[in-house]
Amino acid sequence: MIDIKVERLIESNISELHNFFQVTLLDTFKREVDSGYEEDVKEEVETKMKYLKEDLDSNGELCHFILAKLNNKIIGTVCYRPYDNLITKCSNGKYKDEGAVGTVYILPEYQNMGVGSKLMHAILDYIKSINIETFCLDSGFKIAQKFWIKKLGEPQLIVKDFWDIGYDHYIWRVEVKKVINNF
Ligand SMILES: CC(C)(COP(=O)(O)OP(=O)(O)OC[C@H]1O[C@@H](n2cnc3c(N)ncnc32)[C@H](O)[C@@H]1OP(=O)(O)O)[C@@H](O)C(=O)NCCC(=O)NCCS
Repeated sequence: MIDIKVERLIESNISELHNFFQVTLLDTFKREVDSGYEEDVKEEVETKMKYLKEDLDSNGELCHFILAKLNNKIIGTVCYRPYDNLITKCSNGKYKDEGAVGTVYILPEYQNMGVGSKLMHAILDYIKSINIETFCLDSGFKIAQKFWIKKLGEPQLIVKDFWDIGYDHYIWRVEVKKVINNF
């Protein structure tokens, strides 16, 4: 396990994070999708940049980022958002009042070193501190789905062929106290 610091997002992190998301999202899509992902990567990077702005504009209330840093370099991200359109849509409104943990991305060269788990623990501590007991997490990436199943158990909802034929979307809804120590 490497010795990282977990810190809240600040304004001066933005340009480094733009580069961070370009690198991690491109690497993730390359490994998860056969081809034709360039436009998706671009859109996803834009979405992540919007989330960062939402965090800074709302002082962490509408979106709450926690970053992992190694010697001052950002190597991982996680965020909590109290509302999530995709989860509301996929669950036909069943989970509309649930917040979502997401944007869990670790720089490729630092994956599988405990950084994602440490960030998850930190964001679940934050959720507990604002008296939220349950959260949702969703993933359409097959490699990541295996990681989440290991940590959160089987998903509550699977939307078959949501992204394309053979690319399902998984949604978990879990109690913080039941899973926090898995990370
Ligand atoms: C998925 C991701 C966030 C995990 O973070 P990480 O820092 O690499 O993971 P950690 O080192 O904290 O956790 C490693 C644990 O997960 C397990 N694991 C990692 N990848 C796995 C996989 N593909 N299948 C099953 N288990 C996996 C390891 O065995 C280890 O288990 P242990 O804690 O019981 O020893 C990270 O790899 C990542 O950024 N991936 C690319 C982006 C992505 O897909 N993000 C998720 C979007 S939903």
